[in-house]
Amino acid sequence: MIIAIDGPAASGKGTLAKRIAAHFGLNHLDTGALYRAVARDLLSRGLKLDDVWAAVTAARVLDSRTLDDPALRGRTAGEAASIVAKIPEVRSALLKFQRDFAARPPGAVLDGRDIGTVICPQADVKIFVTAGPEERARRRSTELNAAGIAISFEEVLEQVIMRDKRDSEREIAPSKPAADADLLDTTHLGIDASFKAAVDLIAAKTGLAGRSSHVRRAH
Ligand code: DC
Repeated sequence: MIIAIDGPAASGKGTLAKRIAAHFGLNHLDTGALYRAVARDLLSRGLKLDDVWAAVTAARVLDSRTLDDPALRGRTAGEAASIVAKIPEVRSALLKFQRDFAARPPGAVLDGRDIGTVICPQADVKIFVTAGPEERARRRSTELNAAGIAISFEEVLEQVIMRDKRDSEREIAPSKPAADADLLDTTHLGIDASFKAAVDLIAAKTGLAGRSSHVRRAH
């Protein structure tokens, strides 16, 4: 079983994907961590994020054992990841790892931007998690302020909007729902309600239970 969870930055897709994987006993891959790790490896060697050759090399030799590195979670890593993610050769260098991960029994939940469209177009279930930019900025700034980082809501909102633009307007594998994805709008849903809606949807798609009213077809 392969479950694709795509969506924009700070939509809650990561938390959701992790819980879904645990619930269904599947492996979980946060694919954003791959791009974040490539960016980290470039920056730590004093290289530029738009150095295509260096970025592709970093992607090819990426050590997947370093994906849990807490340094990957920060805002700067996310911004930097979004820049290297625009390089087509970086994306193709990371493709096989993601597909191999998805193919490993008993199956996997992958979260990212292009899982349903490019990485696993044959996924059993595709969910595109959305939330309005203001709500995502609100969640992100609460998280940052709780971690002791002083940043205004307006500044976070600006960053969220900029990242959405870069991720959804890039030429290769832009962030968008697959034609056969279901949208899960979490603007007015807490994490528990979002999780329940996703579980209901997966259960329904895989023939197990009823659907949730929070989910509608993307197209
Ligand atoms: O999901 P995230 O915030 O960790 O992702 C960081 C960046 O990596 C995101 O802005 C775009 C890129 N990314 C991507 O292009 N494709 C993916 N499947 C996952 C992330």
